[in-house]
Amino acid sequence: MTGFGFRGGRLACEGVPVADIARAAETPVYVYSAGSVRAAYASLDRALAAWPHAIHFALKANSALALLALLRELGAGADANSGGEIEAALRAGFSPPQIVFTGVGKTRDELERAVALGVGAINIESGGEAERIDAIARGRGVRARVALRANPDIAPNTHAHISTGSRLSKFGVPIECAAGLLREMARMPGLEPVGLHVHLGSQILDVAPLGRAAGLLAGLARAARDWGLALEHIDLGGGLGVPYEGGAGPSVDEYAAAILPAVRETGLRLIVEPGRYLVAQAGALVGRVADTKAYPGSPRFVILDAGMTELIRPMLYEAYHRIVEVEPRGGAATPCEVVGPLCETGDTLGHARELGPVEVGDLVAVLDAGAYGFVMASNYNRRRLPAEVLVDGERWQIVRKRQSYEDLFRHEV
Ligand SMILES: Cc1ncc(COP(=O)(O)O)c(C=O)c1O
Repeated sequence: MTGFGFRGGRLACEGVPVADIARAAETPVYVYSAGSVRAAYASLDRALAAWPHAIHFALKANSALALLALLRELGAGADANSGGEIEAALRAGFSPPQIVFTGVGKTRDELERAVALGVGAINIESGGEAERIDAIARGRGVRARVALRANPDIAPNTHAHISTGSRLSKFGVPIECAAGLLREMARMPGLEPVGLHVHLGSQILDVAPLGRAAGLLAGLARAARDWGLALEHIDLGGGLGVPYEGGAGPSVDEYAAAILPAVRETGLRLIVEPGRYLVAQAGALVGRVADTKAYPGSPRFVILDAGMTELIRPMLYEAYHRIVEVEPRGGAATPCEVVGPLCETGDTLGHARELGPVEVGDLVAVLDAGAYGFVMASNYNRRRLPAEVLVDGERWQIVRKRQSYEDLFRHEV
């Protein structure tokens, strides 16, 4: 499902040699495979087909408008985590009812906009937020469609920084307080409670915790039904992980088997908010070797023109990404540190990797970089955000230009 593979000894994305793209688009550059996104979406949709469901793509993973438009055409909805992501969803053609708005610490402006648009659901993170939305909606003479985000205190066995369902994390309302708040919300004239929401975290490889969270949320939904609140959906968030080290990750069928039984009992429509699963394997970050060095007592360094500014996951989470030569020269592979050009020792994309005898100017691809890659890129060291390219079969297109130096200074006075 990655869309990338070697053809005639050269790395290709679908039918296009990656080197051709890199030559035309400059490096560093993100390359995405449309076919890979289609395949991932189709597999998840098929796995959930036994129950009414909606797949709301989590824009935080990748909000390139071209990818969003592709996902919308496939039938996806959107999960936006900020005002900016709501705007991205709208520009990609999603209608407000197709958008769920999640996020801790939503600002007044963001809430005003979401209520004015009439998004499909605002996932409420606290009692205070419920009151603020109620006041905004009453001020406009409308009822805002809302869901309550419960924090189930379940550890999903993933990196601490992307674990969101524990009591120690800032997200949601503790599950034992959720029923009380839901009752209060049902009494607020500006709110129309339509669902329940939970999100345990990201890059989850063991589906059992996701099943437990579904069970807890289903219990809450049944309690709400018993005291007369008719909800529409149960939103189990995202989190399904991908096999960054190669091989197989959790299958969508295992995922469906873990969550669907609990959802079925509620009779409610299922919403899921996958990000990584749909796009991680569809993307690669392509860079060029800018320098190499190997001195006695030090590792062999392969220094790329891409680094933590383009892909911060290795530095942020010690995340592993496979790294390959785009046009391998042949010759024995030896261990090296694959690093970026930034002024930080932590700017390492791969530690102790086996690469062949690469030379300055050679192309290197960091695989499985389609999720939480470009969206976390920065201008640190006054570097320009890279271009993004979408490949579809034999065709490819720059869907976002590389920033120019003019762009870098545009907002300074
Ligand atoms: C509320 C919410 N939904 C969905 C996602 C998407 O998660 P993933 O990309 O792991 O599927 C996230 C990411 O952490 C999230 O916070």
